[in-house]
Amino acid sequence: MCGIIAYTGKRQAKELLLDGLRALEYRGYDSAGLYIPESGMVKAVGPVASLVAAVPHEFLGTSGIAHTRWATHGAPKEANAHPHTDDLKKVVIVHNGIIENYKELKEMLAHKGHTFVSETDSEIVANLIAEKRKTAKSLVDAVTESLKELRGTYGLAIMAADEPGTIIAARMGSPLVLGIGESENFIASDPTPIMRHTKNVIYLNDGEIAIVTGTSYDIFTLAGASVARVPEAIDWTVEAAEKGGYEHYMEKEMMEIPEVIENTMLGRVILEEGRAKLGGLIDVAEKLKSAKRIIIVGCGTAYYAGLVGEYLIESLARVPVEVELASEFRYRNPVIEEGTIVLAVSQSGETIDTLEAMREGKRRGALTLGIVNVVGSTIARESDAGVYNHAGPEIGVASTKAFVSQLVVLALFALHLGREREMSEEDGHAFVKALTELPNHVRTIQSTRGLIEKIAPTYATTRDFLYIGRKQNYPTALEGALKLKEISYVHAEGYSAGEMKHGPLAMIDKDFPTVAIAPQDSVYEKMVSNIEEIKARSGRVFAILTEGDVYGAERADDAFFIPKTHEYLSPILAVIPLQFFAYYISLAKGLPIDKPRNLAKSVTVE
Ligand code: F6R
Repeated sequence: MCGIIAYTGKRQAKELLLDGLRALEYRGYDSAGLYIPESGMVKAVGPVASLVAAVPHEFLGTSGIAHTRWATHGAPKEANAHPHTDDLKKVVIVHNGIIENYKELKEMLAHKGHTFVSETDSEIVANLIAEKRKTAKSLVDAVTESLKELRGTYGLAIMAADEPGTIIAARMGSPLVLGIGESENFIASDPTPIMRHTKNVIYLNDGEIAIVTGTSYDIFTLAGASVARVPEAIDWTVEAAEKGGYEHYMEKEMMEIPEVIENTMLGRVILEEGRAKLGGLIDVAEKLKSAKRIIIVGCGTAYYAGLVGEYLIESLARVPVEVELASEFRYRNPVIEEGTIVLAVSQSGETIDTLEAMREGKRRGALTLGIVNVVGSTIARESDAGVYNHAGPEIGVASTKAFVSQLVVLALFALHLGREREMSEEDGHAFVKALTELPNHVRTIQSTRGLIEKIAPTYATTRDFLYIGRKQNYPTALEGALKLKEISYVHAEGYSAGEMKHGPLAMIDKDFPTVAIAPQDSVYEKMVSNIEEIKARSGRVFAILTEGDVYGAERADDAFFIPKTHEYLSPILAVIPLQFFAYYISLAKGLPIDKPRNLAKSVTVE
């Protein structure tokens, strides 16, 4: 995700800011930039090294702000990189987060004569502050007034060209930390870039603003109340800081899931109407309304997300869906008729098979859509329309948070289609309610992951696993098995539980355990029967059950409980313990969790 570093003090800011940007590289980014009031602004697409090469040798000044950008609005290009300024170049900002109402604000500012050079939501903030500054008593008043008009999330560092030495920081939803030094102060999106200079930090809370100079910092709330805060000492190592204190990126990314769900839904749910609003699909709204068939294509985890999508879309919107491995679809001579949509699901947006499958759909006249995490990636650019995940960069090779965000986007997509068709307002409300409860449900699951940490090592020497589920949790079984395979190198097969008697039951014995996904839903009783059949053949069962399901737990050897949710959203919760299970088994085996052998994060060759 984007990174912020800002400095004000007595030292020259250039090298400090560039060092800070290097320290933020681990977060993933596509472009970077910095601003020093006395010298100006420089931006570059690509690695921080490109920015370093672009900054003039003499770039003097003792305060400044800098940013690494991970695109969310607008492709990775210089005009979209931060810092952003208003059209008169008086106010300069770096921003993390998403401004939901930026389109309305942009329109309002355009009416007042402001012009824009980027496609970002962030540029609007600089212009809004500049607009308010025309009448406000001070820069900070202009900032406070502007923040009150923003909807969405932000971590902001703001400077004015005519007030070097002063930086204003503001936080709502996107973390910001102040680093308090000797006659110098820092602001950053996390402690990594500042901890080499000071260990004394203050984490800003949502709704707080700080005015920071080299010798002072004043914190207050949006309502104007002063906040007294004493710096705390951090004792992280740089390596730990990059992973947010976690041992592996995979663990960090699993722990980010509640926030990822919130970001994926941000601005996309209309609570009062029980509807979803997907800005990226507005241009194809009419075609969506008349869609007759949807073909979802993807690979690996993204394909499994598509399988869950099939249940969601068919049940909520009553549109026929087929899900196809992209590598098969592209060579299959598929039948594409009028009203067919080809929907590509891809975290990277660069997977060659998914891209080619989508292109094949386009050649044959289908409307092509993308559900993509990486903004500006090839699938995002080439699809007719689409929805971004907003999951932030996923660095661990095994997909975790991106899978969950794919499910959330597919749920929003199904809700959107459904409410445009036959889905009642009442059902829409119930579904939206269930969606908004998900982040806290995931937090509950995370708080009990110690149980999985305890039982996983008892399975660490197992050679083969079966994962079973039914209906929407059949794909969860496939995904759970894939996670285990890729990071622990253990053979695991995902099966529809209904298929057990048609073959796999023959393999069951005391050394061949089964992970059974059996939440209390419309197929719960059938799943319990499957569990009993396995138990009757001495098979060991680890069951994922709904909270309070004593009956199910009594039938399994090990059980993990997840909160109750809407049936079709249950894969979002059920997959979390399976991700942890794979993680802890891999940990027990001492394997390189973030970079499993033979695998790459982005598969751009066949
Ligand atoms: C598994 C995993 C892969 C990817 C697949 C598609 O954990 O990460 O199976 O899901 O390679 O990648 P994207 O989504 O980038 O198209």
